Amino acid sequence: MANFSPSFLDEVLTRTDIIEIITRHVELKKSGSNMMGLCPFHHEKSPSFSVSADKQLYYCFGCGKGGGAFQFLMEHDGYAFPEAVEYLAEKAGMEIPRDSERDPSEEARHKRAYDLLTRASDAMNRALHSPAGRKASDYLNRRGLPAAIIRDYGLGYTPAGYGFMHKIFGNESRINAALESVGLLFKGDHGYGDRFRDRLMFTIRDRRGRTVGFGGRVLDDGQPKYLNSAETDYFHKSDLLYGFSEHRDHIRKNKQLVVVEGYMDVLALAAHDLKIGLAPLGTAIGERQMREIFRLCDSPVFCFDGDRAGKQAAWRALERMMPLLKPELRPRFLYLPDGEDPDSILKTEGAEAFQKRLDNDSKQVLETWLMGLKLLAGLGADGRARMAKKADGMLETMTDHYLRQAWRQEIEQATGIELKHAKRQSFVKAEDQSNHQVAAALPELNQRQERFMAGLMQKPERFKSLSTVASQFFIDNNLLNSIYSRAFSIQTDAEDNNTDIARQLAQEFPDCQTLISRWVNQATVLQVEFESLSLDMESNDIRRRLKNGLDLSGTVQAKTRLNAIQNLQRTLSEPLTSEQSDNTGA
Ligand code: UTP
Ligand code: MN
Repeated sequence: MANFSPSFLDEVLTRTDIIEIITRHVELKKSGSNMMGLCPFHHEKSPSFSVSADKQLYYCFGCGKGGGAFQFLMEHDGYAFPEAVEYLAEKAGMEIPRDSERDPSEEARHKRAYDLLTRASDAMNRALHSPAGRKASDYLNRRGLPAAIIRDYGLGYTPAGYGFMHKIFGNESRINAALESVGLLFKGDHGYGDRFRDRLMFTIRDRRGRTVGFGGRVLDDGQPKYLNSAETDYFHKSDLLYGFSEHRDHIRKNKQLVVVEGYMDVLALAAHDLKIGLAPLGTAIGERQMREIFRLCDSPVFCFDGDRAGKQAAWRALERMMPLLKPELRPRFLYLPDGEDPDSILKTEGAEAFQKRLDNDSKQVLETWLMGLKLLAGLGADGRARMAKKADGMLETMTDHYLRQAWRQEIEQATGIELKHAKRQSFVKAEDQSNHQVAAALPELNQRQERFMAGLMQKPERFKSLSTVASQFFIDNNLLNSIYSRAFSIQTDAEDNNTDIARQLAQEFPDCQTLISRWVNQATVLQVEFESLSLDMESNDIRRRLKNGLDLSGTVQAKTRLNAIQNLQRTLSEPLTSEQSDNTGA
């Protein structure tokens, strides 16, 4: 990865306005000290996406995504980090460092790789139309794929035997190594050989439409039936969805998306003017792919073969989507007759009939879940018990508070068994506690700690008002403690109150960007709340140390201070509602 100096990155961010970047995609309205809009990362009807113009950070209280300008370009527009930096630097009219601060050879290597992949795709397409490709193009004809699809989706052919890549690109060692790095050549005992031979080729593009790899289908009964590009720096099978860049706009516009199993299904749909298909590349759908699907469309239909394997695949998809489900999403499941796939159905029944199946035969996710559980658990009293038990475990993975309750009631009704109601420990209760998904690696905070940190990030000058013991507040929480202490020292070194602590921390702790953005963007912590929070933190700290018999200079002194704090808190809470003053536990 390219290496930019911290000062360069800082300069780029200083000259960038995140509001301008984000308003290209999101309509933002002023709300308090921040701007709010509909989150571009997940589907929602009321705004939970907040951007702080001051701090140049965004955070979504619905899906938990957050970060700064680089992060937004990476997560939303699919840029790699160096590309995001370069893009913003260029936009700001800055000279991009070419010297030791960066590795130009690295950058050139990436460019060369994408270039090779694109040229290879073109060559495969030409080969399809050459005499050698005759059997492949005949095959495509038989399968009913029109010329426009073959062209637009970059279908092609790789001739039998070795040497196709050499014929296209020559046989220089530098080029060979590059072709190997993009998965088109492999290195064997007798030099480099073509990975794809005598195969019908499917070009696979990433979300930005760049060619990143291929799928190759045999034209006979050979094995394996499909061969994909090997995992390379450019090709990550489990992150890609076939058809994504080609169909994204159409899916958004028509609010229709079908998830199918194979390349041919995606193409057959497109050939029938249904540019709404996406397929994983022969793997089960992963979490990233699932998020991407829901980001594009709130009512995707997941299409499976009606046989055993298809039912299993559907179940895996269902398990995968449970953490992401919420009432606003309406995924559906469509089982096709045994042994059929969308491609074969389209061929025998046509587009209209297929569309009818999508609309009428698909089942809601809840129904699919209940049926699946019933099948898994079996009959009788112990079947019902197994069903309740399995359901209880699965409900645990759901993050939407309301939907989880609704589904729990459904299961209790279906089994007649009361579930354990294991109360999910919500990570943090924000205004909308229903949709919290936060990366597991983030440090855990309770509600008071969360508000305390938010109060500090929103007004860093508050660090100065903290008592001397404050440096220990997070001593039990490694990661949090390091962010917090770093913030302390930044603020102490600072000459004025205007240091941008949040931004500096987000840069120094890139894994915690989301957390920091959340602190900055949440409801403003007013002074009176902050004072009460810091007293709270202090009394907890004293109690912790009393309990552990730690180096308290005097236990008596500590207890006196505890009393004093309690008195202070009482005075502070007077103007507050009873609800707020009751809430002192941490
Ligand atoms: P299928 O075997 O259902 O193939 O595999 P298909 O898409 O219907 O293709 P046709 O209609 O027979 O030509 C579904 C998907 O599973 C992956 C491919 O992505 C394929 O599109 N797959 C299948 C592999 O990766 N490797 C294999 O050997 C087989
Ligand atoms: Mn098929």
